[in-house]
Formats: sequence, structure tokens, C-alpha cells
Amino acid sequence: MAEGKSTAAANTNNGWDAHTPGQTVVEAFPEQVKDKIILITGANPGGIGLATATSLATASPKLLILAGRGQARLAETAEKVKKVNPNVACKQLMLDLSSQESCRNAAREVMEASDIPHIDILINNAGVMNLPERTLSPEGIEMQFATNHIGHFLFTNLIFPKIAAAAKTAKPGATRIINLTSRAVVYGPVRFSDYNFTKQEKDLPESEHMSKGVRAMWNVHEDLPYIPQAAYGQSKTANVLFSVSLNKKVFDKTGVLSLAVHPGGVTTELARHMDPKILESVLEGAKKAMPNFFMKDIEQGCSTTLAAALDPKNTTEDIFWEDCHVAKWNPAYSTDPEKAEQLWKLSEQLVGQEFSY
Ligand SMILES: NC(=O)c1ccc[n+]([C@@H]2O[C@H](COP(=O)([O-])OP(=O)(O)OC[C@H]3O[C@@H](n4cnc5c(N)ncnc54)[C@H](OP(=O)(O)O)[C@@H]3O)[C@@H](O)[C@H]2O)c1
Repeated sequence: MAEGKSTAAANTNNGWDAHTPGQTVVEAFPEQVKDKIILITGANPGGIGLATATSLATASPKLLILAGRGQARLAETAEKVKKVNPNVACKQLMLDLSSQESCRNAAREVMEASDIPHIDILINNAGVMNLPERTLSPEGIEMQFATNHIGHFLFTNLIFPKIAAAAKTAKPGATRIINLTSRAVVYGPVRFSDYNFTKQEKDLPESEHMSKGVRAMWNVHEDLPYIPQAAYGQSKTANVLFSVSLNKKVFDKTGVLSLAVHPGGVTTELARHMDPKILESVLEGAKKAMPNFFMKDIEQGCSTTLAAALDPKNTTEDIFWEDCHVAKWNPAYSTDPEKAEQLWKLSEQLVGQEFSY
């Protein structure tokens, strides 16, 4: 059986858990990082992207490509990486995932760059959460879906030739695409009949409703067309389904493996759009429901990404990750292969381009 395809879950782990910092994981797999070219989206100075980059820097990658929508913030991240390891080359890439034009421009830059012959690991980390008002992207797509899924779908597919180029000389499964998802997959499925949140839930099939428990947790009692948490949940479910599709379409042909990661509750800027009082009450609820729950710092918040990205033992069976190990609690709709294919088709339609492998 080809490496990367066994059915037994036998990841390395080493007893890692929610408290493990990213650097500990990198120290376990130095050869997966040394001289590799790694691209991270959403590499802002205060978030999981920064800690992912600085942890990776300790093991001397050849090039870290830091992608984001703000030049000054990317420069600050690059500076912090250099402080950890001055020998690591950093390249900044302007990428606004909410704009398909920006995704196409950034992908073109990557494809034309002679200093990026291939990409060993792509970490689709950028994201926005719970935008309070329904907002549309330049292409008229609900903003959380546009940024968190559609932008990553388009960018990843456009640069895929450089990811496949890395896989040509690597062991099957060593070349990876990691999609950051969230526990928010439980907030709701992809609303195929209304991905843009224009209808009330009562007009949708029941299978596309937000769960009642999550409604109660967030105090959502009205049947409004736009529910910020449901839109975030849709986008984070899409992140997992994207990994499912990628594995089906490209793993056997190219050896590229894709996994989805819930990083845990992490203190970052992600909650910037939320009312602090509501956030506080949700966190209190989480602590009651899960006695071991705590907010991770960014070092702890990046370790699951790194365990998924680096452990040579990971396989296509290990689709959903939490606290440095494979988790199985995610809802069936988030890994359903039929829904994954339906999402792929919808995404192609929304970007106006087909991607077949
Ligand atoms: N923190 C948590 O508790 C938690 C829990 C579950 C899942 N996650 C996931 O973890 C990932 C990282 O989030 P984080 O917690 O580190 O949050 P964060 O500090 O807000 O970082 C998110 C990053 O995404 C970037 N971004 C947002 N919109 C973008 C766009 N249109 N184009 C390009 N980049 C964009 C942000 O850039 P700017 O700096 O320009 O805004 C920032 O760099 C996200 O996918 C999130 O859904 C986080």
C-alpha cells in the first residue's frame, strides 16, 4: 500500500495535546521543513499564521511565502520570522482572498516567480469570522464564504501546478495542502440552496438549517436570512469539504495530500467583528460544556496545523484535526464526498473556471 494511504490512524503525536506549542511539533519533523518552500495565507503579526511561520522558521525552510492583504502587516511578520532565524528567506505576496481578481493576480505572480520552482506545503490559514452584517464580495458572494472558501479554492487551484511539481520528487503524501477549518463546522452545513443567505431558514430544506443547540448558544432566536455564525459555519464546513475533494481528485494522480485543521480556541484578532460581551458569554458556555476548554496562545494555536502538515505518517483518512491529533466528532455533512463534489461544482461556477485533474 502506498505511503500516505493506509487506513489505520497511526500518526506520530508523541503525547501532544492542546497545550503543545508549534515548535515542539516542528522539532519532531525537521526534515519535513528544512529546505522546503512553504506558503501561508493570512500570515498577520497577531495570529496563528505568524506562529506557524515562526515555528517553521526554526527548522530552516528554504523560503516562506507570507500571503495577505496588508503590506505593512506582512512586513512585520517577515521581521518577526527573521528574528527567529535570520537565514530564512521570506517573500511577501499580496493576496486579498475576498477578490477573485486579487487571487488571480497573486497566483500569476507565484506561477511566474523563478524563485518559487515548486511549493511543498500550502497552508490556507486566512479567515474572517462572524461579520455582523451581510456583506458581499466584489463578485457578489457572501463575504465569509468568499474569503474563507472561494478565494482559497481559486488560489489553490491556480497555483496547483507548482504544488504538483513538488510532489513529483517527494514521497506520496509528503506534499500537503492544509485548510484551516473550525469547531464552527457544527454551526451549519453548506447551504447549497442559499449559499448567499438571502432566504429565511423556514424556506430551506431542514438539512440546511443551523443546529438548534448552536442557535441557543449564540442567542439567535429570529429567523433572519443572514445569521453571521451560520455563514461562518458554512465557510468552515466548506474548508473541510475542499480537503475531501482535493484528496479524491489529486492524491492518487499526484501524491498531494490535503487535511483540515481546527486550531482550537486561540487568542487572536479573529473575533474583531464580535461584541466582546457576546464573545465572553460564548466562551463561558464553552467552558461549561467542555471542562478542559481554555483559550490557547498562538504558539499552542499553530501546533495542530503543523502536526497535520508535517507528520509523514498522515494519510487521506486523517481528514479532520484538533489538538494535534485526528478528531472524529465533526458532523457527517462536513466530510460527505457527495457534498464535497457538489461544493466543487458550485465553487467552479462561482469562479467561472473548471479545474480537472
Ligand atoms: N482563533 C481561533 O479561535 C480560531 C478557531 C477556529 C478556527 N480558526 C481559524 O484559524 C485561521 C486563522 O485565524 P486567526 O485566529 O489567526 O485570526 P486572525 O488573527 O484574524 O488572522 C486571520 C488572518 O486572515 C487574514 N485575512 C482576513 N481576510 C482576508 C482576505 N480577504 N484576504 C487575505 N487575508 C485575509 C487576516 O488578514 P488581516 O490582518 O489583513 O485582517 C489575518 O492575517 C482562520 O481560518 C480561522 O477561521 C481560528
